[in-house]
Amino acid sequence: MNPAARKPVEQLRESMRRDRQWRFMYSTLDLELDVSQGVILYLEGLHVSFDGFKAINDLNFYVNAGELRCVIGPNGAGKTTMMDIITGKTRPDGGTASFGRSIDLLQLSEPEIAALGIGRKFQKPTVFESHTVFQNLELAMAGDKRVFPTLFARLTGEQRDRIHEVLTTIGLQELLDQDAGALSHGQKQWLEIGMLLMQDPQLLLVDEPVAGMTHQEMDRTAELLLSLEGRHSVVVVEHDMDFVRSIAKRVTVLHQGAVLAEGSMDEVQNDPRVIEVYLGE
Ligand SMILES: Nc1ncnc2c1ncn2[C@@H]1O[C@H](COP(=O)(O)OP(=O)(O)OP(=O)(O)O)[C@@H](O)[C@H]1O
Ligand SMILES: [Mg+2]
Repeated sequence: MNPAARKPVEQLRESMRRDRQWRFMYSTLDLELDVSQGVILYLEGLHVSFDGFKAINDLNFYVNAGELRCVIGPNGAGKTTMMDIITGKTRPDGGTASFGRSIDLLQLSEPEIAALGIGRKFQKPTVFESHTVFQNLELAMAGDKRVFPTLFARLTGEQRDRIHEVLTTIGLQELLDQDAGALSHGQKQWLEIGMLLMQDPQLLLVDEPVAGMTHQEMDRTAELLLSLEGRHSVVVVEHDMDFVRSIAKRVTVLHQGAVLAEGSMDEVQNDPRVIEVYLGE
């Protein structure tokens, strides 16, 4: 290619630089996260009904900044619905939800909430199978899953470092050049957590992360989630009690759309109300 022809490409590259991207999309969202009370998420008096059925029924739930919280509860307790409210997917009929002290989540759209730093991991991994592990993380960095920008944008050294840092966190540094489609189920789950981490979320919501994993993969997932504590606030919903025990600090038990009990794993497991709910299933 002659130098004159290359120039437009260079210009395009420049305009596509990742550190310049997407910010404009959220410039109206210059909202400051206020965790001065040590609390990153406040849910108060929430109600959600589906055709008259009270899926969430006066729910009060708080998460501290940097904490790793486990949420358990029988099927239909409202765990996923709670995450849907936090991420803007479901609008409650009543109550309040705020990110830090001042950001009213109920006024924001799903993409706005994601852009503010609330990441969500769904149960089924959604990685780009025909891209490498490294490329998946690279794509996730833009905060937008469009492929086009990476064709032109060059990574800065800092961005490269960040990708390698996340690769280490998720334990896939040896597999960085492998196509994501060739990863095991567990590895795909870690990669997807890594993709969320690329956006450096303040709060990470993880719904049933170890379903379908081998024991070894579960142990590795426990390590991974524990390593996020302090830097991110994490809410983990999980049915597997051995797994919950392996990561639990504070555990919240949801039942019929409200908090039934909260405390250490031992406290909630020995709570007669919790025992009744689980044995009564
Ligand atoms: N979009 C919806 N429309 C109608 N009912 C719904 C909807 N979403 C959830 N529900 C109902 O609300 C209740 C709570 O569901 P939710 O998915 O929050 O429970 P969960 O605690 O996540 O359960 P599980 O452990 O089975 O995942 C259930 O009875 C469910 O059938
Ligand atoms: Mg659920």
